[in-house]
Amino acid sequence: MHVLVVGGAGYIGSTTAASFLEAGHQVTVLDNLSRGHRAAIPEGAAFVKSDIGDRGALEVLFQMGNFDAVAHFAALIEAGESMIKPGVYFQNNVSYSQNLLDTMLKYGVKRLVFSSTAAVYASKNATLNEDDPFGPANVYGETKLMIEQMIRWYHRQAGLKYCIFRYFNACGATLDASGKPVRGEAHQPETHLIPLALQVPLGQRPHISVYGTDYPTYDGTCIRDYVHVLDLAEAHVLAVSALDERKAMTYNLGNGRGYSVREVIQAAREVTNHELPAVETPRRPGDAPTLVASSEKINDELGWAPRFPALRDIISSAWAWHQSHPQGYQTQDSDQN
Ligand SMILES: NC(=O)c1ccc[n+]([C@@H]2O[C@H](COP(=O)([O-])OP(=O)(O)OC[C@H]3O[C@@H](n4cnc5c(N)ncnc54)[C@H](O)[C@@H]3O)[C@@H](O)[C@H]2O)c1
Repeated sequence: MHVLVVGGAGYIGSTTAASFLEAGHQVTVLDNLSRGHRAAIPEGAAFVKSDIGDRGALEVLFQMGNFDAVAHFAALIEAGESMIKPGVYFQNNVSYSQNLLDTMLKYGVKRLVFSSTAAVYASKNATLNEDDPFGPANVYGETKLMIEQMIRWYHRQAGLKYCIFRYFNACGATLDASGKPVRGEAHQPETHLIPLALQVPLGQRPHISVYGTDYPTYDGTCIRDYVHVLDLAEAHVLAVSALDERKAMTYNLGNGRGYSVREVIQAAREVTNHELPAVETPRRPGDAPTLVASSEKINDELGWAPRFPALRDIISSAWAWHQSHPQGYQTQDSDQN
């Protein structure tokens, strides 16, 4: 299949683009490089620098592209930022996704894999399954829920076939067969716990901040489900082939095991052999106390199971990546700095 990977210069999109290529698919990446990196795009993928807000450019691309499927990763993803700039998030994530969906349907491309998030759910002190109640704690999660709803209506009214993936916390890096890091996390700004924690032993920050120690959890800090980015990528390869038969799928992607912020920091200390000082600070707006996945549904229906579930292994791969790329991707490979 020819897959258009929208947001394919970003962390999860570039990793998935590489997995699509390895599985024998043709890949075109579309990304505006606002948050992504040209150097992350795998060799073998065509690249179009464009914005899904530009309907005219999308039309030209779809007229020429002959795409069989779209994997849609493009979004602004920072929960905290979304609380300060809600309009920017509604526009970039919701309005621009509608541009993409309308263009797909206009040109007869009816297979979509969409990156949603655990942030659509209300927090729960047990594993979440796909039927649990929605209750986004931040604007970012709300934008993803709105896009999900739009996709479900386009399925019912216009025959769009979809797989919605609700990722929990993506992390880890791709290493080649010799253990050399090839692709990893390099968000700008970075707000994710593991890369931030690893900046301490790299000498890039004096300590890691723990945002909130009074949550209703066993140690007072937020609990999340950390899932390796390669496991997420693998799920997309399964989904794109399953779309014709199943037509409408919604799955959680996580490991089914939660770790508190304190536990992740402790694991990072052990992996890096660094004391990694932590400083307790007040809560950030928009953080739910506990989000942990049940991924039984995709396991039952598509046979997906994480290949890299161990937190220590995930952090070790991330550590290898950050040591070899302490500044992320080189700025000349990116339109951002
Ligand atoms: N990282 C996580 O832990 C996580 C968890 C749950 C869901 N997700 C979802 O997965 C997807 C990918 O996340 P990521 O961590 O790779 O983020 P990322 O920021 O690394 O990648 C997003 C990419 O989309 C591009 N982009 C943004 N707006 C665009 C636009 N209007 N037009 C074209 N390109 C645009 C950016 O330049 C970037 O390359 C997002 O949709 C995010 O909501 C991520």
